[in-house]
Amino acid sequence: MKNIVILISGRGSNMEALIAARDAGQLPVNIAAVISNRPQAQGLETAARAGIPTQYIDHKSFAGREEFDAALADCIDTFAPDLVVLAGFMRILTDAFVNHYAGRLMNIHPSLLPSFPGLHTHQRALEEGVRIHGCTVHFVTPTLDHGPVIIQAAVPVLDGDDESSLAARILRQEHQIYPQAVRWFAEGRLQLVDGRVRLAAELSDGAALVSPQLA
Ligand code: GRF
Repeated sequence: MKNIVILISGRGSNMEALIAARDAGQLPVNIAAVISNRPQAQGLETAARAGIPTQYIDHKSFAGREEFDAALADCIDTFAPDLVVLAGFMRILTDAFVNHYAGRLMNIHPSLLPSFPGLHTHQRALEEGVRIHGCTVHFVTPTLDHGPVIIQAAVPVLDGDDESSLAARILRQEHQIYPQAVRWFAEGRLQLVDGRVRLAAELSDGAALVSPQLA
């Protein structure tokens, strides 16, 4: 079974969705640890209640980004993860960190990338007047909120929406697509071809079959 480490900074509702999927038998992974850069992150308590080892590494105790990322990677690697899952981890990561986890670092972003990278995505979507908004799970590359898209979910932007109603509609989708993306990874079905993600077919017994165009 694949080992995953989840990184959070706050509430941790996406982390909770992953734990719930695992508990429901829909996500065949071992959640080896949940690590936060904020000692007070609410999600750390949730993870501990679920019996998952937790750690925090306070980014404020480090001289710079490089030092923090190196300490974070050291901590992560003690759990020997197959996959590192960024779930509301609100730090810009150094190239060295991202390259160390190339192909095994996933993020969820609350927009339909490549639209609206960065912060305040829902407010910006409302200001632009877009009619469709959503969320994206992607493999992480050194460019912020960029990388091969694994799965996206779209929702309508309704008349009368404000930032919080739109955020809530999208968060419900985030909680569906993140467990789905991690499940595909755990099943060995995510293939990177020419910088894009291809989903390998699934045999009826659950084993993965690499699709012909990937052979
Ligand atoms: C989510 O909207 C996620 O897409 C973004 O940060 C938020 C984290 O929420 N990266 P939570 O901590 O998972 O509840």
